[in-house]
Amino acid sequence: MRLSVIGCGYLGAVHAAAMASIGHEVVGIDVDERKIASLAAGEAPFFEPGLSEILSEGIASGRLSFSTDFAAAAGAAVHFVGVGTPQVKGGYAADLTYVNAAVDALLPHLSEGDIVAGKSTVPVGTAASLAPRVSATGATLVWNPEFLREGFAVQDTVDPDRLVAGVPAGDEGERATQVLREVYHPSIAKGTPFIVTDYATAELVKVSANAFLATKISFINAMAEIAEVAGADVTMLADAIGHDARIGRRFLGAGIGFGGGCLPKDIRAFSARAEELGRGESVAFLREVDEINMRRRERAVQLVQDGLGGELFGKKVTVLGAAFKPYSDDIRDSPGLDVAVRLHGLGASVTLTDPEAIENARRQHPHLTYVADRDEALTGADAVILVTEWDEYRRELSPEHAASLTAGRVVVDGRNAFDPAAWRAAGWTYYGMGRP
Ligand code: UGA
Repeated sequence: MRLSVIGCGYLGAVHAAAMASIGHEVVGIDVDERKIASLAAGEAPFFEPGLSEILSEGIASGRLSFSTDFAAAAGAAVHFVGVGTPQVKGGYAADLTYVNAAVDALLPHLSEGDIVAGKSTVPVGTAASLAPRVSATGATLVWNPEFLREGFAVQDTVDPDRLVAGVPAGDEGERATQVLREVYHPSIAKGTPFIVTDYATAELVKVSANAFLATKISFINAMAEIAEVAGADVTMLADAIGHDARIGRRFLGAGIGFGGGCLPKDIRAFSARAEELGRGESVAFLREVDEINMRRRERAVQLVQDGLGGELFGKKVTVLGAAFKPYSDDIRDSPGLDVAVRLHGLGASVTLTDPEAIENARRQHPHLTYVADRDEALTGADAVILVTEWDEYRRELSPEHAASLTAGRVVVDGRNAFDPAAWRAAGWTYYGMGRP
């Protein structure tokens, strides 16, 4: 099928390349000329495992192209809209400027019977408000939220765990459903659940999934806070409750909390939208989820300070990681980067290292010191804090080797990713998050 993808950020670029990889003819469109030039040359503008490969394959096959011209969308049967919906400046709500601009720019190029499939994460009610503009061209709007995780985006797009489509009522909705079934045929044929709903449900599925995941992380981080005063170990607690299949161990990783371009802003936008709908109290707990999450960053800073005898001023602290999670170079709302900035603010001499995110981090925080080589970054440090659990640190850094490089032996494990016994045996004073 011929498809267009409007917006070539994390979501759109991966979606375009993945759709080409399953056999569709795809054009990716974005107003950012640099991004389009890079994608058209087969180079991923950000780090995402497997993306470069499917980009090059798609371009070589002739099925994948990129353009800054919205006219290139004409002739596609389905137009995916995957632009960003960041947090508004000075508020909690989602900024829909890019969604509105993308839909408006697309309208003149739509034909009778086209499908416009919104993929961006939007406040409930957005699709219903956009639908009349799309319908006026003879096209149909559907809302088809995306659940990909950065770091696994290609795999999640090619082989998702579920597909959700919010469609209008009646024949129009049925026809749109059939078209989407064709788009996603390889997944559906494999048995991937395909859930067809109304617009509002599809929009809510997306935000409630992220709200649930954020809540799960903050729940375990709240238990970490209790464990800290009670002398318990939150990682053993998580293992034990995680064996209950109703609870499950995934997303019970206590540490410095969640960040990234989705969870933080999505729970805030959800709160804001619920307030607008007069049901703010229904998701009032999300404020608490946010607060617990932010408190863990302070706790991590406190642990470094405690480890250094209460004084950060003039101390050398090496921060392992900058990305908001491993397998990504994304630093949006990165808890680890925030911890580094706070340490710097308290007078520590901070050196950051990360296998992928240094350039992005440097652009945002040029005043911090960045060292690409892990061992060089560790050399002479008074304290070390792990904030992103890359394999380079979690698996490949032995406590003995680290001790041979640093000046001090204080380690704060912001992701509970190290083996405390091994680090202590190598002479380190080990601090976990919610561990004795
Ligand atoms: C999240 C969701 O997991 C995806 O399903 C969703 O599609 C995506 O947002 C989105 O809305 O686009 P992502 O932002 O890539 O995906 O990252 P996650 O894997 O959810 O991790 C988010 C944060 O939570 C990271 O900072 C991670 O370190 C942290 N985390 C995760 C924990 O602190 N503990 C855990 O146990 C798990």
